[in-house]
Amino acid sequence: MLDLDRMPTHVAIIMDGNGRWAKQHGVPRLAGHNAGMEAMKEIVRRASDLGIRYLTVYAFSTENWKRSQEEVSGIFKLLVKFVKLDLDELDEKNVKVMTLGDYSVIPSAARKSLEKTLAQTANNTGLQFNIAINYGGRDEITRAVNRIAEEIRTGSLEGEIDEETISRYLYTGDECGNVPDPDLIIRTSGEERLSNFLLWQCAYSEFVFTDKLWPDFTPEVFEEMIQIYQNRDRRYGGRK
Ligand code: IPE
Ligand code: IPE
Ligand code: MG
Repeated sequence: MLDLDRMPTHVAIIMDGNGRWAKQHGVPRLAGHNAGMEAMKEIVRRASDLGIRYLTVYAFSTENWKRSQEEVSGIFKLLVKFVKLDLDELDEKNVKVMTLGDYSVIPSAARKSLEKTLAQTANNTGLQFNIAINYGGRDEITRAVNRIAEEIRTGSLEGEIDEETISRYLYTGDECGNVPDPDLIIRTSGEERLSNFLLWQCAYSEFVFTDKLWPDFTPEVFEEMIQIYQNRDRRYGGRK
């Protein structure tokens, strides 16, 4: 049973396996991404119903541009579809949508839809749903270092650079309401790697992996993975 008093504050998900799911079903890769969007919708709903404060999903990495132009533009079209169809429901559920990553370079239709969603849900106070788009952990850290260097140069930042300063300049920092580090990182599809996701923030995250392909991921599996997390012993380098 889920212990509702010990829910993770922040759950992050590497939604992987859409392509393999499509192959398994003998359909085009984009049909796999479409099924993946449906799965994502269900998980946002359940996360909100469970009272989770932050949910972050890895939707498109800085490396995913290496894929075919057809796949890349298809993924962004699906994102527009998701955002348009589900905006009102997200809003009714008091979900606040935010992004991690430089989304200014994505196709303009997707960018506009996204901006509308960000604006419409900006004052919501329920689940904060962060969508990582054109996100890479190394890019995030490099950008933070450059921003810090620039502010030191112009004199708007002074004193010692500590961990807190670095955290504030990441995508998850000031621009995103200073999201706490993820308690739990889930990756689907049997791969057990980070693929450049939340490199700084995952210092003490718990990792839970499943062989399920992302489109087969259900709210029930989500809850099972939270239960696994609840049975972990987090020590943060201290004594047991
Ligand atoms: C995850 O599924 C979605 C994105 C990376 C955009 P994949 O498309 O990586 O699926 P596989 O790994 O090829 O099965
Ligand atoms: C990670 O999945 C990125 C997203 C889920 C958006 P990939 O499928 O791109 O990662 P690799 O290539 O297997 O490491
Ligand atoms: Mg993959």
